[in-house]
Amino acid sequence: MQTTAKWITSPIDSKEAAYTFHKSFCPQKDVKKATLCVSAMGLYALYINGTRFGKGVLTPGWTSYKNRVQYQTYDITTCIKEETVIECGLGQGWAVGHIGIENENHYFADHTSLIAWLEVEYTDGTDERVVTDESWEVYTSSVVFSEIYHGETVDMTAPITRVGKAVLSDVHTELVPQVGEWITEQERLAPVALIRTPNGETVLDFGQNMTGYVEVRIQAPRGSRVVLHHAEVLDKDGNFYTANLRTARNEAVYVCSGGEDVFKPTYCFQGFRYIQLVEYPFDTVDMDSFRAIVVHSDMQRTGSFVCGNEKINQLYHNILWGQKSNYLDVPTDCPQRDERLGWTGDAQVFCRTAAIQFDVERFFKKWLGDMALEQKASGAVRGVIPAVSAIRQDRISAAWGDASCIIPWELYTAYGDKAILEQSFPMMQKWVEYMRAAGPEEYLWLGGIHYGDWLAMDAGGDSYVGATANDLIASAFFAYSTSLLVKAGEALGKDMSEYRSLYEQIRDAFCGYFMENGMPKAELPFTEPPRENYGVVDTVRRGITQTALVLILHFGLCEEEERGALSAKLVELIRENGGLMSTGFVGTPYLLHVLSDNGYTDVAYELLFQEKSPSWLYSVNHGATTMWEHWNSLKEDGSFWSTDMNSFNHYAYGAVFDWIFGVMCGIKPTETAPGYKEVRIAPHPNKRIGFVDTAIETRHGRVAVHWYYKEDTVYYEFTVPQGVTAHITLPSGYTATVGGGIHHFAE
Ligand code: BGC
Repeated sequence: MQTTAKWITSPIDSKEAAYTFHKSFCPQKDVKKATLCVSAMGLYALYINGTRFGKGVLTPGWTSYKNRVQYQTYDITTCIKEETVIECGLGQGWAVGHIGIENENHYFADHTSLIAWLEVEYTDGTDERVVTDESWEVYTSSVVFSEIYHGETVDMTAPITRVGKAVLSDVHTELVPQVGEWITEQERLAPVALIRTPNGETVLDFGQNMTGYVEVRIQAPRGSRVVLHHAEVLDKDGNFYTANLRTARNEAVYVCSGGEDVFKPTYCFQGFRYIQLVEYPFDTVDMDSFRAIVVHSDMQRTGSFVCGNEKINQLYHNILWGQKSNYLDVPTDCPQRDERLGWTGDAQVFCRTAAIQFDVERFFKKWLGDMALEQKASGAVRGVIPAVSAIRQDRISAAWGDASCIIPWELYTAYGDKAILEQSFPMMQKWVEYMRAAGPEEYLWLGGIHYGDWLAMDAGGDSYVGATANDLIASAFFAYSTSLLVKAGEALGKDMSEYRSLYEQIRDAFCGYFMENGMPKAELPFTEPPRENYGVVDTVRRGITQTALVLILHFGLCEEEERGALSAKLVELIRENGGLMSTGFVGTPYLLHVLSDNGYTDVAYELLFQEKSPSWLYSVNHGATTMWEHWNSLKEDGSFWSTDMNSFNHYAYGAVFDWIFGVMCGIKPTETAPGYKEVRIAPHPNKRIGFVDTAIETRHGRVAVHWYYKEDTVYYEFTVPQGVTAHITLPSGYTATVGGGIHHFAE
């Protein structure tokens, strides 16, 4: 972007306070149009003539700041007066404050900076520009502290003083127009209960775990304080619990003016269901003066689902809120602790579900763009995008880096637009080449430092990493991503013969190295370098695990005639484990698909209905309103799994919805005519589900499936938009190909 505007900053370091930058503008003639563009290193809040302007919050959003930062464009024509005052508050946000697991400060920049330019068109055809430069005035503001993780302090008694004229700031990054969705305020939730805990804490319960902040309306004596802490859960005794937030303080401090105040944070957000009123000026609490405001990227809702089983409905609710809570400009792992990062593994696991529930094409285009910008020359894709933390730079993990191939392909399948493949193809190719060069063997990925089958419970309940050999996982994903690269290239009309044969070689090498007589080898050498503090002590890694079998079957890393024995083995492992899964982030998303694809839909349903941990309904039974990070986040005895890796709002396991929607309800786009131009409808009804009513707004119209039981007969109603072809398969094996319309069947 070319502009004569200059990056400016405060003449004295604002530290954690949010200073405001002012400029007044007096038009010389009649204004036809006034367009203002603004961006920041940090977060800005725009005010025109003293009033907050624009629908977005947390602008300019989070990108790979060292490469690019978005600017937003505002039409302020109707605000232009004889004297128009443009004011921008500047908080630290992601760019300048604490961010990342190591609590790094200033990862992207060591101070906040602003850039803005106003273009005024006069009715006589002339124009004028007002741009940020050293003429802008800097003032203190009532926001005296703000940090993404730690919260915000707004002091209405703090004097607003002039700091001086702005000075130029040395910012070297590309300015790009808004590429992602706006981040906006969504629902407003009233508290559902006022709780006095056994420890004597005063707590408000909003009834829903979420991401956003609390608005407080209050009139209290000048200087009196409201201090709020945020938490996702209460402990087993009913006390306010914050240990799982780790170092994130999540504290809102409000100092009252004496008049009517409306407080909410401007430059941070919290993940919470409960707030504790740590300080409050009155003896009785007026619940009505508190509202939780849900904040996330403004994506259009596309999916809907309801069925005849209340627990599955609650699970769906939790999955939906997992996405709402974690799609805040980048797909984050969780919204509450000192992390909230764009973890690539979590994002790829969940992206198919995400694209059913909401239109996420634009959201992901932006994030994948940053991923490509952050990709190393070697092709390495880091664990979190935008990359933040220095220490994890060398940890390039299978199933995390593969987000670079999996997400573009899933988006293409869901929306049918080749632009995402065009944009991502070079990144996909580089990632595949990275894996090819990563280990001692060209066609296997051995000896890497991975996250493994993260949080699987088959290596012992306290290990963060499951028992499945990382080499097997890595080589399986090497094959899978290569197969997606081939498909993407072919969709783009490229000659992919070289990568098709690479895929065959990886597949052969995989079978040769990991398999024996049609089964994975039971024990595999432990080739990973020792890792600190991850609780993994094995010297041997296993090849026969649920996750290993799931990957082999799902990625087709076996002969067709071996499928029967492999899937029977998977069912045997589930049975031996007391009818429970033992999969983590890597295996779980595909587990039910593998079972239903190989003739075990009944076992898939058993797992779906399972209520003992690990299972989806365990958390539902324990009052969850969002997805938990760990199967056992809250144990049966009411204690917590751990303090340091225990989020109650981690969407990854919510990926099960792509099975519920794609197999139980039966709606899947095809790869031959993606974007639901052609759709496959193949429901797998189940009596305990009773009925389903589900729909998706696709690029070609609304596809809906309704089925219900009447005694032993299932009645089906399929809605297919005009111009779309649907290939129907019913459980009896009956097939039909139909066009637009409403189609009824019974069997
Ligand atoms: C995050 C995960 C992430 C993981 C990598 C965690 O700290 O919360 O969701 O994928 O690290 O193993």
